[in-house]
Amino acid sequence: MNILVINGPNLNLLGTREPHIYGSQTLADIEHELMGRYPEAHFTFFQSNHEGAIVDAIQSTIGKDFQGVVINGAAFTHYSYAIRDALAMLMIPVVEVHISNIHLREEFRRHSVTAPACVAQLSGFGSNGYSLAVEMLLYHKSSQGKSTV
Ligand code: DQA
Repeated sequence: MNILVINGPNLNLLGTREPHIYGSQTLADIEHELMGRYPEAHFTFFQSNHEGAIVDAIQSTIGKDFQGVVINGAAFTHYSYAIRDALAMLMIPVVEVHISNIHLREEFRRHSVTAPACVAQLSGFGSNGYSLAVEMLLYHKSSQGKSTV
């Protein structure tokens, strides 16, 4: 199974960025952990601080041999209709991840404009949320396509 893992702005600084909120693991640590835990999956990792680059990465899966997307859109989650529209086009399942529990934080973080284009949102599991998202893609038949059942 080929899975694209997308991380948005400021997540390149995980490990040093507000560790009391986002933990001490770097993005490279998280990526290595995923590869170690799920040798049956083939991961493509992408991080960008730029909205259009993330749209391009999402579009790059179309017509290619990808079976799922994991996305932490970071702050774009809360206002990027461009990323939502790109995700909505996909015929493969997308799982949204947030390291922190966005529902327990500032008001502006509680709303995700991208979640409606995803089969699930995982929020507040720390960096383990990425693994849980992969579990969903690998083992939950119900997360195939855009079905929500
Ligand atoms: C985040 C939560 C967002 O509100 C924030 O802008 C981020 C990280 C998370 O992983 O908890 O950059 O997506």
